[in-house]
Amino acid sequence: MAKIFIGVAWPYANGTIHLGHVAGSLLPPDIFNRYNRMKGNEVLMVSGSDQHGTPITVTAEKEKMTPKEVAEKFHAINKKAIEDMGIEFSLFTKTGTENHRNVVHEIFIRLLEKDLLYKKGTMQYYCPKCLKFLPDRYVEGICPKCGSEHTRSDQCDSCGTTFETGDLKDAVCIHCRTAPEIRATEHFFLKLSAFRDDLLTYLEDKTYWRSNVETFTTNWIREGLNDRPITRDMEWGIPVPVDGWKGKVIYVWFEAVIGYLSASKEYLSSDDLWKEFWCSEDVKHYYFLGKDNIPFHSIIWPSILMGYGNLNLPYDIPANEFLTFRGGKLSKSRGGAIDIPSVIQRYDPDAVRFYLSAIMPDTHDSEFSWEDFQIKVNNELVSALGNYYHRSLSFTSKNFSAVPREFNGKDLAAVTEEIEKVVSEYDMHMSNCDFKKAVRTFMELSRFGNRYFDSKKPWALVKENKEECGEAMNASLQIVKALALLAWPFMPSSSERIWKFLGFDDSPLDHGISACTVPLVAGTKLPEPVPVYSKVELPEEENKNETNTGGPFADFKRLDIRVAEIIEANDHPDAEKLFCLKVNAGEERQLVAGLKAFYTKEEMIGKKVLVLCNLKPAKLRGVMSQGMLLAADDETLGGNTVALLTPSKDVPNGTRFGCGLDISGKEIEYKDFQKAVIRVASVNNGIFAYGNLQIKDKDAPSRAAAVTDGNECILLSDGNGCFAVADKNVKNGATVR
Ligand code: MF3
Ligand code: ZN
Repeated sequence: MAKIFIGVAWPYANGTIHLGHVAGSLLPPDIFNRYNRMKGNEVLMVSGSDQHGTPITVTAEKEKMTPKEVAEKFHAINKKAIEDMGIEFSLFTKTGTENHRNVVHEIFIRLLEKDLLYKKGTMQYYCPKCLKFLPDRYVEGICPKCGSEHTRSDQCDSCGTTFETGDLKDAVCIHCRTAPEIRATEHFFLKLSAFRDDLLTYLEDKTYWRSNVETFTTNWIREGLNDRPITRDMEWGIPVPVDGWKGKVIYVWFEAVIGYLSASKEYLSSDDLWKEFWCSEDVKHYYFLGKDNIPFHSIIWPSILMGYGNLNLPYDIPANEFLTFRGGKLSKSRGGAIDIPSVIQRYDPDAVRFYLSAIMPDTHDSEFSWEDFQIKVNNELVSALGNYYHRSLSFTSKNFSAVPREFNGKDLAAVTEEIEKVVSEYDMHMSNCDFKKAVRTFMELSRFGNRYFDSKKPWALVKENKEECGEAMNASLQIVKALALLAWPFMPSSSERIWKFLGFDDSPLDHGISACTVPLVAGTKLPEPVPVYSKVELPEEENKNETNTGGPFADFKRLDIRVAEIIEANDHPDAEKLFCLKVNAGEERQLVAGLKAFYTKEEMIGKKVLVLCNLKPAKLRGVMSQGMLLAADDETLGGNTVALLTPSKDVPNGTRFGCGLDISGKEIEYKDFQKAVIRVASVNNGIFAYGNLQIKDKDAPSRAAAVTDGNECILLSDGNGCFAVADKNVKNGATVR
């Protein structure tokens, strides 16, 4: 038995948590926590509402409430929503407690005494019209790295870059839209530069971290570990515990991460108890969060902990990517009613947990849709798992009314062998926090169960040979038992109901994963079961959003992509980076393309490429462009790499890359093109290496471009064995634009 600490990113108390929070940071730790307890481990899992910082004050100003009212209102709503989703914390507290403030002060003072914090004059945005300093979210502008608009001044939501004062382009004050001045002020700085060597040593053995976490962290260090201001010019927050610092508070990010420790102390109030989790070297610390929080947990928090001394550092940080909706970040306006209270008014929390586990954005962003939710729940949860549960339990209870005994044990032995195989795979995925893969293992077991049940034909067998039928049903129920145990971390409440139908009066948790292969006790009375899952009907408003788009790949079906040969390439008269091209796409077209940094004219001429032909013609710096070359963009390698898509075989100009789909080809705008996300990745054994999606084409090249929709994937092709390949090496998942 081991002890495990799980920290979960603290949601800001400035709004109601939604499906993005659940899929990204709240559900994974709950699954991991439950799994660990099923293995007999002792878990301390804490989080709470992040009640400070500009997210709260900006909302308060908008809603004409006080920051405290906002922070308390959403703390109450979110705490309840989390419980209603079946997410169990040891403690879900808030950063507004006195305990938290004391712990933050204690750490602040200790770091100050050790010279790891120091005062320094610095520059800060200041609004000459509102007459105040503008921290973090009070300034908005364009991200200098990725070009996103309405980016706040502390961090870009799109690319995750963290900023310092002055970094943002076209900055404005969010209240009056005036361009802010930059004025001198004084702040406390965290001496991150002092931690460089210790951080590098700490990171050395973290080879098991997810690649997104590792990359983000090493890039941050490589870009220079600058000392960072950890106070702000504002009133709302934890005051600086130093005389003469009125009107300034501790930066929410320095303060909120300390919540992991303060919450542990709040929950396990005696020193001895919290120290068992924080000071004993063999307790592993896991942190679950969304990708925008990575550096705060992989660099800042470890530095604070090292600075304080003798506290455990994060062992793993399985950060998730984002859940997207129609290609963009999931948000209220895009996804309909996605806040948790309204979602669980309409749907069973376990069905929602199932769906989010099955599409979890663990290694890449993943697309959420109500339609896909309906399909996965109805076709998998209800038809495979739910159906298996119900037919086995109801048939046995009706014909035997108790767990039938086995005579020769042959069936049970065969089934047990299968269960053992599944459990060992499941264990491997669960301990690696690969929850999506773990779901597949038990869903596969439910399909095995259905096949086993069908092969036995118990409805006939019961009349011919009741003993043999009982033998088969005993084995069937063993599968039910294993399923209820394996599914419990994912869908606790329905699994507990199944557990009761098996005649137990406790919970799967009381037995643990090892009970999967422990035989049922013959003679145990079986109550009459009812189905635990039911089919989802989408309410009208959710249907409306999607039915008229025409099913999976709807966005892709609007793209008219054709093979073309580049005939001429010339410099654009007015733009340094652009080429003017003539191509033959069946008929001649003129294109303007920003490829000069990546290709020479000689490389371009004579090349066969893929062109989006039904893009609304547009003038680019005065020259008309009638379409767009498809190219994959890879930003991982420091600079950009751009690779043109080319056909894998010599096919005539004008050949359509419709993938055998019914293409509408009506004129579209660039934003329509962006909705159909096309990516390049390698292809091995019929699997597209981005999202590991199955593909049907047998003669696919080893690297190809594909469009994905939910869990389906089609390689770009002419439908006739000619595929789209990138002409340079780009990372798996590089997007085409
Ligand atoms: N409130 C922050 C967010 O939602 C996360 C804080 S995580 C913590 O992005 F560790 F700092 F608490
Ligand atoms: Zn950005």
